[in-house]
Amino acid sequence: MTGRHPADLVDLVEATPTGRQLWLRGAGRSLYPLLRSGDSVRVLRCAPEALARGDVALVRVGRQLIAHVVLSARPLVTASLLGGKDPVGVPLGRITALRRGAWILPLPRLARPTLFLGQRLLSGLWTRPRARGLFRQLRDFTVAGWSRPLRRRMLGRPEVRLLREGDLDALLVFAGEQLLVPSAFLRQQLLGRWARESGALGAAAGAFAKRGRMCGFAYLDDYREEGLALEGLWVRSLVVAPRARRMGVAYQLIGCLVEEARRQGADRVFADIDEDNFASLRTFRRAGFQASSSELTQRVNAEWSASGGVKPLVVLERAVE
Ligand SMILES: CC(C)(COP(=O)(O)OP(=O)(O)OC[C@H]1O[C@@H](n2cnc3c(N)ncnc32)[C@H](O)[C@@H]1OP(=O)(O)O)[C@@H](O)C(=O)NCCC(=O)NCCS
Repeated sequence: MTGRHPADLVDLVEATPTGRQLWLRGAGRSLYPLLRSGDSVRVLRCAPEALARGDVALVRVGRQLIAHVVLSARPLVTASLLGGKDPVGVPLGRITALRRGAWILPLPRLARPTLFLGQRLLSGLWTRPRARGLFRQLRDFTVAGWSRPLRRRMLGRPEVRLLREGDLDALLVFAGEQLLVPSAFLRQQLLGRWARESGALGAAAGAFAKRGRMCGFAYLDDYREEGLALEGLWVRSLVVAPRARRMGVAYQLIGCLVEEARRQGADRVFADIDEDNFASLRTFRRAGFQASSSELTQRVNAEWSASGGVKPLVVLERAVE
C-alpha cells in the first residue's frame, strides 16, 4: 500500500495577493509526462466561472483528484496532456505552478494558448503508434539496461544502509522528488522511532549515491500508524529513483530491512504490492518472498478497500531465519 498515510497530501498553504494557494501532492501524474508521481501542484481555489480554455484545473472525479487541461470552460471539459476527455467532475481550483524537487514551473494565464495547443498536438500524436514508440524509448532511457553503464558512472556504487537522524534532509529531498509519503510523517517517524534504539520496532533504509544524494528508500513498520488491524512488520514505500533502477538497489534495500527485522527479533516480514506492479512483484519474489495465505491476503484487501484503496493487492512474506 503506497498511497495511504496518516497525514494528508497538502504540503504548505501560502497566502498570496491573488488568494490562498496550497501545494498538493498526489495529483502529480495527471499531467504526465510533464509531471511524475511525487511531484506537486500549487492550487488556487476559484469558482468554476473563473476557469478558461488552456488553464490547468484541479478536478475531483469520483474519489480521484486530477489536474488536467481545460479544453472548454462552459460546459467544463478537461483532458490529460496525452489522452482523451475526462468524465465530468467537480472543479476545485486552478493550478498556478508545478514543482519537482527544488524546480518550480509557474503556470501564468499567459501560458493558456500554449497549453491548449500543446494538449491538442500531443494528444493527436499520441494516437499514432510510431510517435508513441519514439516517446517510450526516450522515456525509458533512465531505466533501460543499455543506459546502465552510463548511469553507474554518474551515480557511483550506491551505499545502502539504515537511516540515521542526520539523514533527515536527504530523505526529505528524496521524498519531495519520488514519494507520496508526506514529509511531516517521515520526519516524525525517523526522529521519533526509526532512528532510535528505543525498543520500538521498525526502521528505514536508504541508498546513497555520490555526494550523499539519496536514490532509494524503503521502511519497515507495522500498520498501527494507519489504524489498520494488521500485525507484523511490513516493507513499505519501496522506491528507487529512475536513474538508479535495474542496478540491484531494491534488492539491497530489502536485504538491509530483513536483516534489521532479524536483529529486532521478528520471525517474518511481509509486503503488499499492487497486483499489476510487475517490477515490484518480481523484485520481492527474487528477494525470497512467497505468497502469503489466502486468509491474510483477503484480510489485507478488506482493510485496504475499507481505507479507500482501489487496486487489489498481492501479499507476500518471507521467513527471517
Ligand atoms: C520496483 C522497484 C523498487 C525496483 O527497483 P530496482 O532497484 O530497479 O530493482 P533491482 O535492480 O533491485 O531489481 C530487482 C529485480 O526486479 C527486476 N526488475 C526491476 N525493475 C524491473 C522492470 N521494470 N521490469 C522487469 N523487471 C524488473 C530486476 O531485473 C531484478 O530481477 P533479476 O535479478 O531477475 O534481474 C523500482 O522499479 C521502483 O522504484 N518502482 C516504482 C515504485 C514502486 O513501484 N515501488 C514498489 C511499491 S510496492
